[in-house]
Parts: sequence; structure tokens; C-alpha cells
Amino acid sequence: MRKIIIIMLSTVLPMLTRAVPVNDLRFNPEKVTERTLEFQDGSTVRYRAYENIFYVANIVDSAYQTLNIYVPESAYNNNRNIPIFLKTNVGGYMAAKASSPTTRDATGRALQEGYIVVIPGSRGSNSVIKGEGGEEIYTGRAPAGLVDLKAAIRYLRYNKEVIPGDTDKIITDGTSAGGAMSALLGATGNNPVYDSYLNEIGAADDQDHIFAAVCFCPITDLDHADMAYEWLYGWMNIQPRGLNPYQVEVSDELQPSFAPYQKSLNLMKPDGTQLTADNYIDYIKYYVAESARKALGQGEEIPVSSGITVIYNGSQEPAIEVDMDKYLEYVVSNKSLKTPPAFDKVNVLTPEASPENRVFGDSNGSAVNFTDTSLRLANDDFSLSISPELVHRVHIMNPMNFIGDGVSKTASHWYIRHGALDRDTAFQIPINLATKLENNGCDVNFELAWGRGHSGDYDLDELFAWIREITGWRR
Ligand code: DHB
Repeated sequence: MRKIIIIMLSTVLPMLTRAVPVNDLRFNPEKVTERTLEFQDGSTVRYRAYENIFYVANIVDSAYQTLNIYVPESAYNNNRNIPIFLKTNVGGYMAAKASSPTTRDATGRALQEGYIVVIPGSRGSNSVIKGEGGEEIYTGRAPAGLVDLKAAIRYLRYNKEVIPGDTDKIITDGTSAGGAMSALLGATGNNPVYDSYLNEIGAADDQDHIFAAVCFCPITDLDHADMAYEWLYGWMNIQPRGLNPYQVEVSDELQPSFAPYQKSLNLMKPDGTQLTADNYIDYIKYYVAESARKALGQGEEIPVSSGITVIYNGSQEPAIEVDMDKYLEYVVSNKSLKTPPAFDKVNVLTPEASPENRVFGDSNGSAVNFTDTSLRLANDDFSLSISPELVHRVHIMNPMNFIGDGVSKTASHWYIRHGALDRDTAFQIPINLATKLENNGCDVNFELAWGRGHSGDYDLDELFAWIREITGWRR
């Protein structure tokens, strides 16, 4: 009998412990503090802070799977219809901590404008926990960071009756790898392909689509970024890029894949003709000219060294001519180019790993190749291919695969900026993203931002005017 009881206990007890969630996913409005944010001009905003809220039931990495919610004083008495500005701090595909609003990025301004601000943390390439034997376990290999951000959004919806703000008006904002995350959140809403990952961490059973995505210099379409980069810049491999013969060989290997890839996207320009490698330089030229035109209108000077000529015809709008070779040289004179392969580089020519090699890596922390081309070059074996498991993870980290797929609930509104001087990824990457979204009926506000390099959360007057317009919300 005693034996039977022990057997019963030993089978029932683990079930009981497993049945008790680590975290019940319920928002506790009692745990609040009040603070003040001071701006450069001396003005202040008082706000309530709800912090360190775990947004998954099965917490894997307690350092990152939390979110913070901030409510400006203007919303203390009524916050039901206020849009939620959700900022991700992800950079370099690394882990990001939940943080508090600052005047150094758009979060301070969002509070000042009266929005509810949410800042979630998320796992990334460098998030590590200690295993039972003291070994290091990397918790954030892709798609973990994206899955965490989706879980954070689900948490907000799951608690929408008690959480401040309007979950039908969630606007995400991120820069670089964070811009890619914002684009992924916007493109992949509610797509069941992420469900197994979300279920594993005990994400709330709710929807994760968003209303609008703000993407500054998104480093995305990672599996095609190398070919796009070499296609745009390969002609300057010797001068001014200064590549060695091995690097030139790799560049020459990558560059020809861009034209067929571009063709396969089947993207249409506004004039109804297809955007191809043959007309792409002219398309970039159009965006560069528009960028210069806007800068001129704001009183900025366009340097002669940019290869841009401004021709005044009396009182008419000035004509702007762009010499694209000169313009690209101007970009590169600002910051030297990445060496090939720009993204999937580990072990191809050197052991140096990119942020992307790391984020697709193994749970033991090693970096991996994530494209067939680099895998083959790295191993000098052209029979190799990326494993189906990794192919899948690369696929679900690319927003281009989800726009117009008929399954995802893609955000209706997009604000995409890429610095006109940004060489971290080729111009075709953000342009293809914007074009695919436009082709699929999204409202897209896309520009190359004059004089900007690889950065984000600039021109906040313009950004918040856009947010006012798309949300229709007024304080
Ligand atoms: C970032 C920049 C890169 O050039 C890159 O390849 C990945 C990420 C970043 O700033 O987040």
C-alpha cells in the first residue's frame, strides 16, 4: 500500500508542479510607481510606471522576457482610446532589456504626446542562462527575439481590459535589427507558423498583430542581403573599396544572384512596370533625388561631392540630377563598406562572425552560416546545403515572406526610413520592403533620409505628425 501511495505521489506530484504556471499572465495594476521625465527645454512629463512584468508563463530568461508600461499624466483619468507606442531596444540582433522612457529616443516624445508607452525586453544572440550542470545555454537564437516581442503584444491584448491603452492601435518602433523586428511584427501578425515557439514559452493565447510599424534602417531580408550588397557596390571592389583578390572572388560569386532574386519578387513600380535589376539603379536614383529635394526645401545644402546637381530654372522647382556612381562613392566616403559577404560571413574568408551568424547560431553559442552560398564557400564543398530546420528559421525571420501571403494580418500603416548615407545594408533591401508592402495595399510612408547614416528615431516632429494622422487620436 505504501508503495502504491509513493508511486501515485511520484507520478502526480510532477504533474501538479507542471500544472502550476510560473507566471499567471495577469497584469497587476497595484504595482505602480510615479516618475517625472525632464526634457532639454526644461519641460517635464509626469508618468506612472508599471515595470518588470513577465509576459510569458514559462519564463526561459528572466533578464529579458519582461515589459514595462508607462502612462503619461494626461492619461491618468481616461486611457481607453489612447494608442500604444511600443519601442524595441533590439540592436545588432542581440538581447534587449526592457527600459524606461528617455529623451534620447522616441519614447520620451511619445509620452510627451500623450501616448501609452510600452518597452519590452527580448532574448537575442547574446542572452545566456546557466544550465543545471553550470554550462552556458544560449536562449536567444532566432526566432526567439521576435517570438518574445510577439508574446509581449499578446500579453497586452490578453490584459486589455485592465491595461491602459488601445490594443487595436499598437505602433511598434525599432532601429536596425530592431527595425527588422518592427517590420516582422508588422508583416507576420497572427501567423500560425510561430505558434509552436509561442506555446513553448507560454505566451498568452491571443492575437499578436499590430496597427502600424515604424522601421528605421531595417537590417532585413538577411538571406538576400549579401547578393544585394555586392550587386550595388561590387563595381567599386578595387577602388575605393580596396578588396583583396579573395574578397573580389567572393563578391563576384554573390553579385550575379541578385538579378534573378529581384525578378522572382515580381514587384511593381508605381508606373506599373516591374522593378528589376535592369531599372533598379534608376529607382534608387529617384529616391535619392527626392531625398535631396526635401533637404533643399528645408534649407540644407547639397554638397557637390555627392554627385548631385541642382539646376534652378527661374521660379520653378529645381531640377535635380543624380550621378549614381558618384553618389555611391559619396556614401562610401562617409563610412567604408562591409567586406564580402557582408552578412553571412563566418568562415568564408575569416572566422569573424556577423550579428546575423550569431543570432542564427546554436544553443551552445556558436555562429553558423545561414545561406547555402556562404556555407559552401566556408567549407569549400558545393554539395552542402543549410539544414531544413535552419532554412525554416531563416524563412520565418524574413518579413518579405509574409507580406500578402493571405494568412498573416499585416499592419495597415508603415513608416520606413533608411539613411541616404546608410551602407549597413544595400538600398534595395528597404526599397523592396516598402515596394512589396505598397504592392499589397498597405499605406507606406518611405523615404531615404538625407544626410543620415545608420541611425533611428530622428525627425520626431515628422514621425509623430504621421502617427497623429494614421491613428486619428488627439489628446
Ligand atoms: C545592426 C547593424 C548591422 O550592420 C547588422 O548587420 C545587423 C544589425 C544593428 O545596428 O542593429
